[in-house]
Amino acid sequence: MRVERKQSVVLVPFLLQGHLTPMLQLGSILHSQGFSVIVAHTQHNAPNYTNHPQFVFHSMDDGLQGIDMSFPSLENIYDLNENCKAPLRNYLVSMMEEEEEEEGDQLACIVYDNVMLFVDDVATQLRLPSIVLRTYSAAYLHSMLTILQQPEKYFPFEDSQLLDPLPELHPLRFKDIPITTVNNTVQAPLLEFSRSMCDVGSSVATIWNTMQDLENSLLLRLQEHYKVPFFPIGPFHKMVPVASSTSILQEDNSCIDWLDRQAPDSVLYVSLGSLVRIDDKELIETAWGLANSEQPFLWVIRPGSVYGFQCAEALPDGYEEMVGERGRIVKWAPQKQVLAHPAVAGFFTHCGWNSTLESILEEVPLICRPFLADQPVNARYLSQIYKAGFELEAIERTVIDKTIRKLMLSEEGKDVKKRVVDMKQNIVAAMQIDGTSHKNLNDLVDFISALPS
Ligand code: UDX
Repeated sequence: MRVERKQSVVLVPFLLQGHLTPMLQLGSILHSQGFSVIVAHTQHNAPNYTNHPQFVFHSMDDGLQGIDMSFPSLENIYDLNENCKAPLRNYLVSMMEEEEEEEGDQLACIVYDNVMLFVDDVATQLRLPSIVLRTYSAAYLHSMLTILQQPEKYFPFEDSQLLDPLPELHPLRFKDIPITTVNNTVQAPLLEFSRSMCDVGSSVATIWNTMQDLENSLLLRLQEHYKVPFFPIGPFHKMVPVASSTSILQEDNSCIDWLDRQAPDSVLYVSLGSLVRIDDKELIETAWGLANSEQPFLWVIRPGSVYGFQCAEALPDGYEEMVGERGRIVKWAPQKQVLAHPAVAGFFTHCGWNSTLESILEEVPLICRPFLADQPVNARYLSQIYKAGFELEAIERTVIDKTIRKLMLSEEGKDVKKRVVDMKQNIVAAMQIDGTSHKNLNDLVDFISALPS
């Protein structure tokens, strides 16, 4: 009797934490649906294999040894794309040969992060179906697409226009345009890269870490543009059957003991994610804002996240002794566990999409301090449309102090908390058996299973 062969999916993540995490989560989701999962990753930021014994890992020579990829430049990203092309191609060819000999699983498709542009070329050459993973919100892609269709309408702009609204992109203003500018204009190479990233090339579908229940109208508009099937199956971190750590940096679990000693609903969690860097002036304003607010806080100061400093040594002398037990500073936290802790009442965040979803799903309202890429878009939607948080209006200690008190102590803060609870309930509904994410996942499984091999 012929034994039915399993179908396998090859995942190609981009090396940054905010991209690697959702791809590994997607891998766990697909594995729970019966696929075997192979993760073809770069040497930089290789995932911790022992946390994912259910996956097969393949390390691709990214050719960037000795280069600091903590904040990759456009050139680094293009180099990475070029260097990984042959390693991925060779690996897939060997898989296909094994398949011919009926030794391996049947390769169903490749799912790739949209920064790993080269995968589309490799898949096309080998006549393998590919699917793009969007790790961010539909709101972000919608704004990118609108801007890319007519960049001359947006760039260059004047400083005096920063707060002017962009009616076709409500609630965004010039200030929230999610493409990095130099002197308020966009550089041609970045525009070209952004176009490629937003494109689907010859891929047959897109998978999204978002939910129809949250972003349906934007998803529909985008789908009209892209034509290929969309599978919004978020929130990934709650759709995974068993959560395992996807952290690149070592998590400092001692902060959980500290949280255990705090009163329920009393702590502000402060973290600006895995990528952004601030100057020492911002660090100091934040430090005094936190201290003056008189609220307990847990603050992640990631090594290398303050320009010119290793870590927290840019803080005012004696700062940690001064705040004492009321404040705790760590280099990297087990964020999902922190947000789920009953002591945590608010999140001062850069509004990365993973952090946003993690916060909402734990009913934690936000203070939004966005920097780049999708973050300003997420921040505007959170503060203006979903009303799940407050935007930080200036990086000044008095404003920070006032905003923290508003979130943690005021009636307005209570309203924001209610909105977050409502949002969470909507998202949880999407995950139920008859919910949209659940249904879309079933459709995705059928779709992949039916792809021509
Ligand atoms: C950025 C973007 O803003 C994001 O939206 C995009 O899709 C990827 O690049 P990043 O700065 O990494 O991402 O932010 P975010 O998307 O929030 O991801 C950070 C991840 O690191 C989260 O999953 C968070 O739980 C984790 N984290 C952060 C920790 O585990 N510990 C910490 O101390 C801080």
